[in-house]
Amino acid sequence: MRMYDIIKKKRDGFSLTKEEIDFFIKGYVDGSIPDYQASAFCMAVFYKGMTEEETANLTMAMAESGDTVDLSVFGTLTADKHSTGGVGDKTTLIVAPICASLGCVMAKMSGRGLGHTGGTIDKLESIDGFNTALSPEEFFAQVEKTGIAVVGQTGNLTPADKKLYALRDVTATVDSMPLIASSIMSKKIAAGAKNIVLDVKCGSGAFMKIPEDAEALAAEMVKIGKMCRRNTAAVITNMNRPLGNNIGNALEVIEAINVLKNNGPEDLTSVCLALATQIVSITKNISRDDAEILTKDALQSGKAYDKFIEWINAQGATENSLNFKKADYSHPVIAETDGYIISSDAEKIGISAVILGAGREKKDDTIDMSAGIILNKKTGDKVTKGDVIATLYSCNKSSFESAKNKFLDALEFSQEEPTKEPLIYKIIK
Ligand code: URA
Repeated sequence: MRMYDIIKKKRDGFSLTKEEIDFFIKGYVDGSIPDYQASAFCMAVFYKGMTEEETANLTMAMAESGDTVDLSVFGTLTADKHSTGGVGDKTTLIVAPICASLGCVMAKMSGRGLGHTGGTIDKLESIDGFNTALSPEEFFAQVEKTGIAVVGQTGNLTPADKKLYALRDVTATVDSMPLIASSIMSKKIAAGAKNIVLDVKCGSGAFMKIPEDAEALAAEMVKIGKMCRRNTAAVITNMNRPLGNNIGNALEVIEAINVLKNNGPEDLTSVCLALATQIVSITKNISRDDAEILTKDALQSGKAYDKFIEWINAQGATENSLNFKKADYSHPVIAETDGYIISSDAEKIGISAVILGAGREKKDDTIDMSAGIILNKKTGDKVTKGDVIATLYSCNKSSFESAKNKFLDALEFSQEEPTKEPLIYKIIK
């Protein structure tokens, strides 16, 4: 078999066999297939797509390219949640303790921020003392004891995805449906949970900009999950604006704690309850209505907050660690006109937060954990000239000018009140 022929076959729009896909993944991981051929392959897939069968075969080849986690010792209640990436998305910090407090086993691996989107591991590392690098023994012991652990992805889990993702990032081939679906699902399958809920983001801050594309991606991933004998569902959620009001690592943890204390913003609370309800429903095999009663009670009774504290204690932090260091400087963004905010481009707001130091511009950049943005006004809100729309935070004063310009560029104003968009577009099972 030759990689040249595989690229040509895909370029000409034909379907690849399982053997051809396995040959590509194996060769790319062992180094016998070079980056330039893998790039050409990704670009051919970008233009010609893949059938469901090809996508499933690519997923399995990537899932099996390295170590896999066997969570079967915990029975059938293991659950995982994955977000396709967004701005202000701190849902794991809330959903995982809600579900764990209800008996779901949340043994989870998460990622770091990527481009304008944040990552759970960076957020957790803003908590002083929190250890995201547990050994496998520590990870299993903690899950056994507390029912919850979240760690960074280990060295040899899905090495094919690690290599391909980095390549796609620099060859303009990230936003291809079969490549995204296989990338996400290969990691979820290798991470071992029996029950998987996908939060497929849709809108300006997401890879999928319109509901039809988000739905197609969600349906594809749910199908792959089921083919791999995992109970899988997807919730398509709105990412046309940031989720919640806080963007930036420590600021997002603070907001997540507010939700766990029943004092968080409505949009974030609703999305978290929808995701947690879906996880509890498929994991415990109960109706969504019954699951919703349980998740609301876990939040309102404080059970979920108690589980959050138990979780961070187990991973080395204390309640004192939640007294976050404030950023050295803050800067208000003032409304220059009267009117309604009719759109707030989440990607641009995410980039503004990166400029403040909340994310990485280059792979090895260090993050300013205190940096970020608190939104006072969001899409749909009326503003009056002189109102503080948002406050920017950073330890680097010189970043404010450029971050503010990017932030203002994200907003669109009108004299007409916009119609309200749904927070949750669809649930796919
Ligand atoms: N998240 C992933 O893990 N992979 C993708 O390809 C896109 C988003």
